[in-house]
Amino acid sequence: MAWKTRAWTLIDRPDGLPKREHFALHDFDDPPLCEAEVRVRNLWLTVGPAMRVRMSAQTRGYLPPFALGRPMEGWAIGEVVASKTQALAEGDLVMHQHGLRDYSQGPAAGFEKLPKPGPPPHHYLNALGSTGYTAYVGLLHIGEPRPGETMFVSGAAGAVGSTAVQIGKALGLTVVGSAGGETKRRLLLDLGADAAIDYRSPGPLTEKLAAAAPQGIDIYIDNVGGEHLDAALAAARPHARFAMSGMISSYNRDQARDVMHHLNRIVTQRIRLQGYLPFADHVEGLGPFREQMWSWIEAGRVRPLQTIWDGLEHVPTVIEELFAGGFTGKPLIRI
Ligand SMILES: NC(=O)c1ccc[n+]([C@@H]2O[C@H](COP(=O)([O-])OP(=O)(O)OC[C@H]3O[C@@H](n4cnc5c(N)ncnc54)[C@H](OP(=O)(O)O)[C@@H]3O)[C@@H](O)[C@H]2O)c1
Repeated sequence: MAWKTRAWTLIDRPDGLPKREHFALHDFDDPPLCEAEVRVRNLWLTVGPAMRVRMSAQTRGYLPPFALGRPMEGWAIGEVVASKTQALAEGDLVMHQHGLRDYSQGPAAGFEKLPKPGPPPHHYLNALGSTGYTAYVGLLHIGEPRPGETMFVSGAAGAVGSTAVQIGKALGLTVVGSAGGETKRRLLLDLGADAAIDYRSPGPLTEKLAAAAPQGIDIYIDNVGGEHLDAALAAARPHARFAMSGMISSYNRDQARDVMHHLNRIVTQRIRLQGYLPFADHVEGLGPFREQMWSWIEAGRVRPLQTIWDGLEHVPTVIEELFAGGFTGKPLIRI
């Protein structure tokens, strides 16, 4: 018997911002399960900026481009509804990367069993998952924080950024965040940031950061790149550490437009810049990280920030809003 699945597909590659017309919801027939495979009814989906890189024919990323007309992949959480392996049983909760569809199936090795009972499952798509771990590895492993230091976070009202701000405060750092608009600026202060910048307000970002962190910065969590990276270089104290998480400001345009004025500071301030992919180089630390993060959440030190939509049909809207700054925290789609 073939099962039916509704899945979002990319039907045209965006040149610039992704729009509703680049995507279509299609019905697919899934084959019967093979040995060691499972089928999952998805409960929670999410999208992230790196998916934009995969919408181009030639990616500058570490994953291949999405195939046109085929289901797109993304992180998801679901419940096992059929299983041909003893490793997973019907009713188990699992996390996987075959999302953006109502049902997913494949080899059980690609589905991580989640504790049940345990933390609310959607936290695994946010603070307890890739988002939280990106903030944590950037701050703890790359940033190597020391008492009394100052950290700057760009994209600070976003998923990774809002988590980094709160971990920074849990560790006792002075935290400066940057986000677009006055509402988001106030949100950063509400999350505990010591100073917050609206990067969209008039004036050079370099001056705004200098005013927000007159003592300079020791750690920078870079989610944005471009002008934010340049301003952070200008503000860096000697031996600052820059954790290069991502560069969302360049995902919809040619990075050649970035003009950097302060690159020489890398030499004069002896700055260390390091790109990182937590799931490539830090997999072994995921378990201890989750224990630490869950204890912060239970103690109220980290409040996972998220925006929830109900219904599979919202996926293209959420992708559009992701690049327009239309929401805060991690986008979660409940189906
Ligand atoms: N290294 C890794 O393994 C890894 C894993 C996950 C994510 N990342 C990276 O981390 C960064 C943040 O990811 P996320 O999932 O937390 O997404 P996110 O920050 O929640 O992304 C959405 C936000 O980005 C901001 N934004 C969009 N376009 C912008 C622009 N041109 N300039 C400045 N800000 C812009 C918007 O906020 P405003 O309203 O404030 O502009 C928007 O709300 C991304 O660069 C992503 O690629 C890396």
